[in-house]
Amino acid sequence: MDMWSYGMILVRMASPLRLVFLLVIHRVSGQYWGVRYRPSHICALKGSTVTVYCNYTYPTCGYRIRKVFWTKTNEYEDSYEAEYTDLSKDPEYSQRLQYLGDKHNNCTIRLSHVTQKDSQNYYFRFITNKHREELFGNPGVSLTVTDLQVESPETVTEGDSVRLTCNSSCTLTDRATFIWYRNSQPLTERRDRNNRLLLQSVRREDAGRYSCGVQGHTYISPAVQLNVTYPPKCVSVSISPSDIIVEGDSVTLICSSDSNSPAEMSWFKGRTFVGSGKIYSILKISSDHSGEYKCKSSNEHGEKYSEAVTLNVMYAPKSASVSIFQFGQFLEGDSVTLICSSDSNPPALNFSWFQENQSSSVGSGQSFSALQSGRFYCEAHNQHGSQRSDAVTMDRQYPPKSVSVSISPSDIIVEGDSVTMSCSSYSNPPAEMSWFKGGTFVGSGRIYSISKISSHHSGEYKCKSSNKHGEKYSDAVTLNVMYPPKSASVSIIQSGQFLEGDSVTLICSSDSNPPALNFSWFKENQISSVGSGQSFIALQSERFYCEAHNQHGSQRSDAVTVTGEEKHLTQEAKGQETN
Ligand SMILES: *[C@@H]1O[C@H](CO)[C@@H](O)[C@H](O)[C@H]1NC(C)=O
Repeated sequence: MDMWSYGMILVRMASPLRLVFLLVIHRVSGQYWGVRYRPSHICALKGSTVTVYCNYTYPTCGYRIRKVFWTKTNEYEDSYEAEYTDLSKDPEYSQRLQYLGDKHNNCTIRLSHVTQKDSQNYYFRFITNKHREELFGNPGVSLTVTDLQVESPETVTEGDSVRLTCNSSCTLTDRATFIWYRNSQPLTERRDRNNRLLLQSVRREDAGRYSCGVQGHTYISPAVQLNVTYPPKCVSVSISPSDIIVEGDSVTLICSSDSNSPAEMSWFKGRTFVGSGKIYSILKISSDHSGEYKCKSSNEHGEKYSEAVTLNVMYAPKSASVSIFQFGQFLEGDSVTLICSSDSNPPALNFSWFQENQSSSVGSGQSFSALQSGRFYCEAHNQHGSQRSDAVTMDRQYPPKSVSVSISPSDIIVEGDSVTMSCSSYSNPPAEMSWFKGGTFVGSGRIYSISKISSHHSGEYKCKSSNKHGEKYSDAVTLNVMYPPKSASVSIIQSGQFLEGDSVTLICSSDSNPPALNFSWFKENQISSVGSGQSFIALQSERFYCEAHNQHGSQRSDAVTVTGEEKHLTQEAKGQETN
């Protein structure tokens, strides 16, 4: 449909009184003055080119158009002065203005690169050959130049829907197809109708700088930032150093996550809160810090935990100790197993065993069989160091064995000597000792002493060694006390009658050790002996005595009287010691 609008025509007729006639022309016809613009209101996009279709009429008889021009001044000017308002002479317009019409009826004009400053009313004006008969095309064409502004919430949460509007200050005259840009890249999808862009279920990739434009126009609106916020995701923990962590190291745990807005981070060991911030540092790590760590990343939209990371702190053995696997007594023949244990990471696999006061090791491996008493300790090793345990005392107990007796003096013991017998044995714990002569207990203690020995001490002695595990007797030792002859006496062997001329046999006997083998016979009151040997044959009546000898001395018997003629024996059997 032809939407031509009719302009208001101001005709200033020639008049010294400057009369102004305002004529409203409702219809253009050949004999009227008139101007019509299509369209009469223009909303143009900044930078675009505007074409105003324009048509004018004037009475054809007698008039000739002297000058046609466009102006933005609607005040009356003298035609001569009015020429100075010709936009084609205005430096702000001259380069951009293009008159497409003619001097007959077409006053179409084109203005390019419009700016907001161009928002004005514009009027077509012509001057005829007749003085002061001219046309001023009121009310003219109103031009509004608009820019585009994106209207958008600053921030939207992931999953929400958001609508962006490309606003202009007036409704664009030309049918406009809006184009949307994100980060200067045209969006091909999800183009909404009209000037709106609807983002349904916003994703974080939708964040960016949005601007809009109109198809066929180079002008693009200023960009507006759209932030898409979302809860943390991809929460992860990195550990430095990343390989082996040894006690004493400085260790740093770093939490990273993807979120908008930035997340707050907090740290948990197991379920216990241990700190906050992106970085959790442990200056001098100890084995107590071993465990599972998690980072929690949270913002106003949610929170998320990282996977647990395990901090495994290595350390040299500590608290090394020896335990004894032995129940009851450690007796002879038993072997006792010692186990070395320690706290270390990784567990100690290398062990050495030592006996106190010995420099070289006595064994290796986690267990050790102790066969003898002593103080033992172990050393546990791993790649990070070693530690030595306290020593344990192995007290191996057994009943007495190798019980033996020694006698001092060791050779010949003579009556009156001091004799010492000592008992020795091996045992643990130390044995009690007691002494027996034959089956009779005679004393206790390791040593049994007889200060002045006499023959009645002779006999078989034994020592008994005993502890709580048993007892043992020594072999019997014989104490053989030597002594010189004593109780020497003479006995007369006579059977039947002893008549004169008969011989009488005398026997010398004595008690001695060793037995006397050497005898001497004497007549009383004579110095020299009358015979030797244990027996003596007396031939006359006299008084005789004998002397018995061994290597320890001699003794003389009492004298006996040998008488004839009648059976008569006088015998005195009591001896007398001679030395
Ligand atoms: C006036 O001139 C313009 C540009 O040459 C043209 O597009 C338009 O059709 C003309 N108007 C009429 C009514 O002839």
